[in-house]
Amino acid sequence: MSTPRTPGAPRPTDGQRPTLADATRGRLLFGGDYNPEQWPEQVWQDDVRLMREAGVTSVTVGVFSWSRLEPRPGERNFGWLDRLLDLLHDNGVGVVLATPTASPPPWLGRLHPETLPRDADGHVEWWGGRQHFSPSSTTYRRHAAAITEDLAARYARHPALTMWHINNEYCTYDHGDEAAAAFRRWLRERYRTLDALNDAWGTAFWGQEHDSWDGVLPPRRTHYLKNPAQVLDFRRFTSDMLLECFTAERDIVTRHTPHLPVTTNFMPLWEGQDAWRWAAEEDVVSVDLYPDPRDPLAGARHGALVQDLTRSQARGPWMLMEQAASAVNWRGVNHPKPRGLNRLWSLQAVARGADAVCSFQWRQSRQGAEKFHSAMLGHAGERGRTFQEVKRIGADLARLAPHVTGTAVPAGIAVLHDWHSWWASDQEARPSTRFGLPDLLHAWHRALMEAHLTTDFAHPEHDLSGYRLVVVPQLYLLTDAAIDNLLAYVRRGGTLVSGFHTGVADRDDRIRPGGMDARLRELFGIRVLHEWWPLETGETVACAGFTGTLWSEEIEPADPDETIPYEGGELDGLPAVLRRGRAWYVSTLPEPAALRSLLTRIAADAGVHPVLAGLPPTVEAVRRGELLFLLNHGGAPVTVAVPGTHTDLLTGTAVTGEVALGRHGAAVLRP
Ligand code: GLA
Repeated sequence: MSTPRTPGAPRPTDGQRPTLADATRGRLLFGGDYNPEQWPEQVWQDDVRLMREAGVTSVTVGVFSWSRLEPRPGERNFGWLDRLLDLLHDNGVGVVLATPTASPPPWLGRLHPETLPRDADGHVEWWGGRQHFSPSSTTYRRHAAAITEDLAARYARHPALTMWHINNEYCTYDHGDEAAAAFRRWLRERYRTLDALNDAWGTAFWGQEHDSWDGVLPPRRTHYLKNPAQVLDFRRFTSDMLLECFTAERDIVTRHTPHLPVTTNFMPLWEGQDAWRWAAEEDVVSVDLYPDPRDPLAGARHGALVQDLTRSQARGPWMLMEQAASAVNWRGVNHPKPRGLNRLWSLQAVARGADAVCSFQWRQSRQGAEKFHSAMLGHAGERGRTFQEVKRIGADLARLAPHVTGTAVPAGIAVLHDWHSWWASDQEARPSTRFGLPDLLHAWHRALMEAHLTTDFAHPEHDLSGYRLVVVPQLYLLTDAAIDNLLAYVRRGGTLVSGFHTGVADRDDRIRPGGMDARLRELFGIRVLHEWWPLETGETVACAGFTGTLWSEEIEPADPDETIPYEGGELDGLPAVLRRGRAWYVSTLPEPAALRSLLTRIAADAGVHPVLAGLPPTVEAVRRGELLFLLNHGGAPVTVAVPGTHTDLLTGTAVTGEVALGRHGAAVLRP
């Protein structure tokens, strides 16, 4: 079992490991998942012809090909993949080769039912979909390692190969017997003694004290509320089990191709993996991103958040592994992307640090679970609008590549996020279940984005000294090390803004004395935190100059330098917002415009200023390297004032003083 390292700490081999630059080789990767085992091989010729036409530089192959590669236990069927990689190479398309281990063949589950995961109710997840594997299953791991080994040995020297993609969207949970045994082993390593486990889980109450390790289980179905510390540890354990699956396959492919980077694709803001820890184990951090095109502004906000988080995990250029060229097929109503939106969101990813813009998938399926999910080459074919736009994006990215690949996105602000805190807070029996952490992350990030303040994300134990402002939407659980880090950050001159219900619990989800860590209370100027007053959905609380939502707190202040009070109601006159020195505490969620202006002011005081002044509200501005990206997420054309003379790299024309952006239009300006 791997020993936990500080989240985000670099891999021991850092500095020697390949990076995304080893795969991009000066180009922006553009392409997508290519699953041509769905087609007769004649179609492949058409595929590569159209890939060339669209400027596709990279495809991801083999993600779900295990049953084709190993049709019966131990058999190997590589001929089709040999021909495919040769064909792609002959056509100048690089290959990201996936290990197929996200979808084991039916024979694995049939012959080895213990490889199938069970949910908390004991129900089996059968084959017929995908991701039907238990990460704790030694049999699954053995078979996954064997196919990975043979794949890596066979293609290690293939000239088309540029990168490895391990598995796909790791996301399974298993509550079965083998998982229970592995959970016990994991817990023994963490706690050493049963007494320590009982203490960490607070089993003294509710009659839950364990007398034997054999009685320790995953959080299976219970009659009443589950033990929250057990649930928290099970989430930690599951993330670690999945990570062991990843690193096992990573180590196999790395042995064969030490010069090639390895990635696995995260789901956007996905709860199941501690992505800080995972990212530290990857050479390339990649993510899948599917904002709902029904609301282009909200979609752009979601995209920006996920992109900032991914860039921060990558600590540099990252890969957009998947997006949809148009509609997905797993929402209630699946809206296509209006004209221009696929291009705009692709450029947004590049603006926020992506060096690879790829889609799921190249050619739209005619059968199977995602036959209504769009593709770069949709059912409408090469004359279809989607493919025409794909060609345009390919041309845009080719123009941008020499100016943008490998460059950084400067940010003076860090938003803090931690999976362990999320896992502890997202449980039953809490003060309010009317919202979740993602709602808060979105609200705070939105305020910063709409203020045109570029932000990174960081873990609360990271070195924060490079940021002038640190924003904590909510960190319910904070370790002692994280609290020390935040205090030191402010002591050394940093500005800290914290949202409500932060610093409440320790690493075991034990409530800290006083309901909030004493040192943090002192930092913010809080003498007593009397009560949390969560609000109903749609309920608001009046504050001087703005309206609060979701939450409020009954705080007795201790010498703050500045406060904004609640007005009326139970909390009348008590502070909604407190500042002591450079530390701010916001005990409600201000409505969007109010949070935006509060953060604009605090950022300005900290010396962080918007990317560009006077931008229309629908326009996003991001600097990357020497370039200024201007993205119009609105449905109407706008004009943006830009001091000086620039070249718009998308059109090759000179721009002086102002630039016109059409509906969902963009400009990429170089001084
Ligand atoms: C995810 C998966 C893909 C595909 C897409 C589209 O991102 O990784 O295999 O299913 O969603 O739904």
